Amino acid sequence: MADTAPAVKEVKDNRAKLFERAMSRQGYAADALIEVLHTAQELFGFLSMDRLREVARKLKLPPSRVLGVATFYNFFSLQPKAEHTALVCTGTACYVAGARGLLDVARHRCEKAAARGAAGKLGVQQARCIGSCGLAPVVVLDGRILPKLSVSALEKTLDEVGA
Ligand code: FES
Repeated sequence: MADTAPAVKEVKDNRAKLFERAMSRQGYAADALIEVLHTAQELFGFLSMDRLREVARKLKLPPSRVLGVATFYNFFSLQPKAEHTALVCTGTACYVAGARGLLDVARHRCEKAAARGAAGKLGVQQARCIGSCGLAPVVVLDGRILPKLSVSALEKTLDEVGA
């Protein structure tokens, strides 16, 4: 049977801009640190050292304080939790455009991997909006934005990366 899933295009990643806006809304206030870290984790899936340094710089905090907070709370992750990470946007535009089906596919893959003893193969996360609503529904797979994604295109892309 011929594969009819459309090819996935490369698109601009707006998450850095969205993150900047979120920090700006908080007035780059030091006491907004936890909320800022939450936003970063939701947008990027985990808190890289570069991201923590950026937060420290923008919030005018010592990097040790930012790292201390990020490591104290176990809901923050300093690295991807799996070999591949699918961040499924479930914000309104993406939800209306079919994010639920994409989330189901990604979760099902994740469960299947766990059942065969490969639990660290695919991690699935949700975001409220990654700033690309015009491309809904959107999934970020290993940092790559996959726009206007169908269930079959997601299946195909996950097959291609071996997730
Ligand atoms: S709701 Fe998904 S990118 Fe905005």
